[in-house]
Amino acid sequence: MIRDEAWQLVQSKVQGQFLRNHLLAAEAIMRALARKFSEDEELWGITGLVHDIDWELTEKTPEQHSLVGSGWLKEAGFPPEVVEAVRVHNHMHGFEPQARLEKALWCAEELTGLIVACALVQPDKKLASVKASSVKKKFGQKSFAAGVNREIIAKCQEMIGLSLDELIDLELKAMQDIAPSLGL
Ligand SMILES: [Fe+2]
Repeated sequence: MIRDEAWQLVQSKVQGQFLRNHLLAAEAIMRALARKFSEDEELWGITGLVHDIDWELTEKTPEQHSLVGSGWLKEAGFPPEVVEAVRVHNHMHGFEPQARLEKALWCAEELTGLIVACALVQPDKKLASVKASSVKKKFGQKSFAAGVNREIIAKCQEMIGLSLDELIDLELKAMQDIAPSLGL
């Protein structure tokens, strides 16, 4: 499976720029995590890139989110590991992630929203201006980007063995590396 084909499929299903950017950010952090764990970078990156592919269609039926999308991916011939990671990533279902890829997606992609919010409060609205220390501080301020589920992110310690500090450093760097594609 080729990354560009996955991106084509995403673009056919996802119209909103904000969501497209979230998927690009998720791809970047999953690639960085794969490198850290010596896993398959392409496979992990594609998983991040497609994980919310059904979000717009299931916006009003969140209990369908990830079930519909994983169905599309299966049909399109994506590897079973990708399909399963996408299927279990909707926290609402209460599925237990098993493989490291599933666990990584489950706990790590939530943090991208907090990092974007940290960029948007900078005077220049740039990711380059965001310091890891300020992301850490904002993590503790529950009223800041209140939609970001801190409990899920904190599970990265037991799920994939990364401390909150390590996770923030890795994700911020990964997103800064692709900042122009994120418009930040
Ligand atoms: Fe997501």
